[in-house]
Amino acid sequence: MLTGEKIILRPIRMEDREYTVKWRNDLFIKSSTMAHPFPVTEEMEKEWYEENGRSRNNSYLPFTVVHKETGKVIGFFTLNNINWISGVGFISGVIGERENMGKGIGRESLEILIRYAFDFLNLRKICAHVRTDHPAMKTWMETGAVREGTLAGHFYADGRYYDIAFISWFRDKGESGGGDNR
Ligand SMILES: CC(C)(COP(=O)(O)OP(=O)(O)OC[C@H]1O[C@@H](n2cnc3c(N)ncnc32)[C@H](O)[C@@H]1OP(=O)(O)O)[C@@H](O)C(=O)NCCC(=O)NCCS
Repeated sequence: MLTGEKIILRPIRMEDREYTVKWRNDLFIKSSTMAHPFPVTEEMEKEWYEENGRSRNNSYLPFTVVHKETGKVIGFFTLNNINWISGVGFISGVIGERENMGKGIGRESLEILIRYAFDFLNLRKICAHVRTDHPAMKTWMETGAVREGTLAGHFYADGRYYDIAFISWFRDKGESGGGDNR
């Protein structure tokens, strides 16, 4: 369990699926996270949790974000595509309900997970794909991300193509090469 000021990140539980299936079907979230656009049924979600529970795949680490004060499930973050030899992984996440967005919870979740990745998993670089128009881009840069490049017209949603920034957090900032922070 990873504890922050307002939140706890804990391993996912089967009962969390009632929240995640809802978020996975939310078109705003699908488009913001660049998830696949197809509907997800309750059966598919249950199967996913079962498969994940059986998996001993250490390259995918999912966490549920729980509000410390109320105990409510409010988000879902993962460290994923971990390459243990290179010490590189990816981060992605969702704060599920509009009323909980913009209150610093996503930033806190991200900072806790990156610290965990560096200090406990001994990873040296965490990356993310982010739509260049995403309102949280500025916040991710404030947390120390470096923009390494841009994928032009790489993602289609809402009837248009979006540019995607490839951003990374380095444990040792000297390794970042400065990026191309446009
Ligand atoms: C992106 C996300 C994880 C950020 O978490 P959050 O708790 O809402 O954001 P925070 O309060 O920590 O602040 C991060 C920034 O996100 C911005 N933001 C992003 N989406 C927002 C929304 N729907 N409502 C309000 N603010 C939002 C805030 O403006 C804030 O920027 P600021 O510091 O300049 O005000 C969350 O909004 C979310 O889950 N959105 C939908 C899915 C998604 O986009 N996932 C991540 C893809 S990179």
